[in-house]
Amino acid sequence: QALLAAARSGAVRTVVERAPLSRDVVRRFIAGETTEDAMKATERLVGEGLMVSLDVLGEDVQDRGQAETTVRNYTALLDRLAAAGLGNRAEVSLKLTAVGQALDEDLALDNARRICAAARTASTTVTLDMEDHTTVDSTLRVVTELRRDFPDVGAVIQAYLRRAEEHCAELAYEGSRVRLCKGAYAAPDTIAFQSREDVDKSYVRCTKVLMAGSGYPMLATHDPRLIDIAGALAVMNDRDPESFEYQLLYGIRPNEQRRLAGQDAQVRVYVAYGAEWYGYFMRRLAERPANLAFFLRSLAGK
Ligand code: FDA
Repeated sequence: QALLAAARSGAVRTVVERAPLSRDVVRRFIAGETTEDAMKATERLVGEGLMVSLDVLGEDVQDRGQAETTVRNYTALLDRLAAAGLGNRAEVSLKLTAVGQALDEDLALDNARRICAAARTASTTVTLDMEDHTTVDSTLRVVTELRRDFPDVGAVIQAYLRRAEEHCAELAYEGSRVRLCKGAYAAPDTIAFQSREDVDKSYVRCTKVLMAGSGYPMLATHDPRLIDIAGALAVMNDRDPESFEYQLLYGIRPNEQRRLAGQDAQVRVYVAYGAEWYGYFMRRLAERPANLAFFLRSLAGK
């Protein structure tokens, strides 16, 4: 929590961005800065039997010009995926704050619609990432709107939210792609469970609802216990392996990614790339003390 709060400070951002970061630390979680880097990572992962969701890094844009740049970055990426014939194995993940949500919800909706249209042309799909708790209602409204024209748009539910189970029940319908994650942002006690145990219990309740429903669950976690529980619930609900998928982040538990894929499960790796790595990188550090220690050692040049 403290690290997530510090991450919002401009001073901390300057220190972290200007620090003589060992490239290895950032590169552990981020596929690179260019579309070329992202394509190489995608081709490698697809070659290993994995699927991919690509995130062009950037969030919280404050003007229309930046939002337009995000749209152009995504459409250029989708053109590349189409040209490489990777549309059936690689989709994109989009943050609405990167296309103007903080300025105007309708602007974000229109921009997201343009990206969904480009994804359709590339024979692939878009999942809308879920961000800070203040954006949840707006993002779910945009998902509902987009699904009128693009029913395959993926939604994300964060299990740490007290309303997560209710949201899962609403979204567990035929054709509905739903990513379930624990939640990576700081949120107050009135809105979100705070203890690891409560978040994990909520994750299990949500998995039960999604697996019992008729939608397409996407279980996004590295937690070995939750991955096992999801597998058991799939069996209990007579789900075949094509009716759900596991999702893990690029650079985290890569052996587990391959192990699951080797057991005929569908596994998608979330691949983030681009120059705007700060927010994403800080959330990964906050998730695990070992990552923070690794980072601090690299700052000290050790
Ligand atoms: P947890 O943090 O409890 O970790 C369980 C185990 O996984 C750890 O013991 C460790 O072994 C390993 N592990 C976890 N994180 C690690 C790390 N950073 N480095 C190394 N090992 C690590 N969040 C959100 O708010 N909105 C979103 O849209 C998304 N989208 C998303 C997509 C995908 C594909 C994933 C996997 C995750 C997200 N998240 C997210 C992030 C999510 O909310 C959560 O913060 C992280 O996945 C960490 O939680 P775990 O479920 O992995 O469990």
